[in-house]
Amino acid sequence: RIVAAPVDGARWVAAEVASAIRQRASEGKGLVLGLATGATPRGLYNELVRLHREEGLSFQNVTAFNLDEYYPIERDALQSYARFMRTHLFDRVDIDPARCHIPDGEVAKDQLKPHCRAYEALIEEAGGIDLQILGIGNNGHIGFNEPGSSIHSRTRLVNLDISTRLANAYEFQGVSEVPRLALTMGIATILRARRILLMGWGSQKAPVIQRAVEGPVTESVPASLLQQHDDCTFVVDAAAASEL
Ligand code: GLP
Repeated sequence: RIVAAPVDGARWVAAEVASAIRQRASEGKGLVLGLATGATPRGLYNELVRLHREEGLSFQNVTAFNLDEYYPIERDALQSYARFMRTHLFDRVDIDPARCHIPDGEVAKDQLKPHCRAYEALIEEAGGIDLQILGIGNNGHIGFNEPGSSIHSRTRLVNLDISTRLANAYEFQGVSEVPRLALTMGIATILRARRILLMGWGSQKAPVIQRAVEGPVTESVPASLLQQHDDCTFVVDAAAASEL
């Protein structure tokens, strides 16, 4: 879906999220929503907050699972994704904090594997992710699944590519401060979501959007693996669509 500008894309995706929340509520159920961080979803979160304030959209029955988190990182660190989500969405709507899940950047090293397994189990117990929001890295990563990630991968500890650490250095005081590791849902975890909406804005994302949408399905471009999902939409602005 090609929109003129990021604000139009954010509005469209927010309307999809709102209608999914309302649809599930009409069935007496709550939506299980997969969420992303980074610069891309900020407009979406602003729009969801607006819908909450102005149109009474309630998040009381939403269960949220975030894709990823740096490791190690303190939950309250400025750069943590836990803090990002509180600042941009969770503290601004009526979502139950107990239903907001993010891989834990503070978990002890010897607890990493059980923590990742428990994260997968929590998603399953919630009934699986109904709607997964994604961004895309310049190297094609989704979540923190860097090129080479297996299509069978699940939530786990990963090494970040130097290109990802450079891209995210603006959030830290220089690239050397960017953690070398992260926790991320796997490609298989993401592909199990019933519906996926990936957003991409700006000319910088145009080459990777082209490779993900029109290139071969390959683990060297993780987002290309989404071609194998039967309900996945890329929402891109005109600049990001310019190489399609
Ligand atoms: C980050 C996140 C991803 C995000 C991607 C793109 O590092 N781990 O979940 O989708 O890279 O980031 P941005 O939206 O800032 O371009």
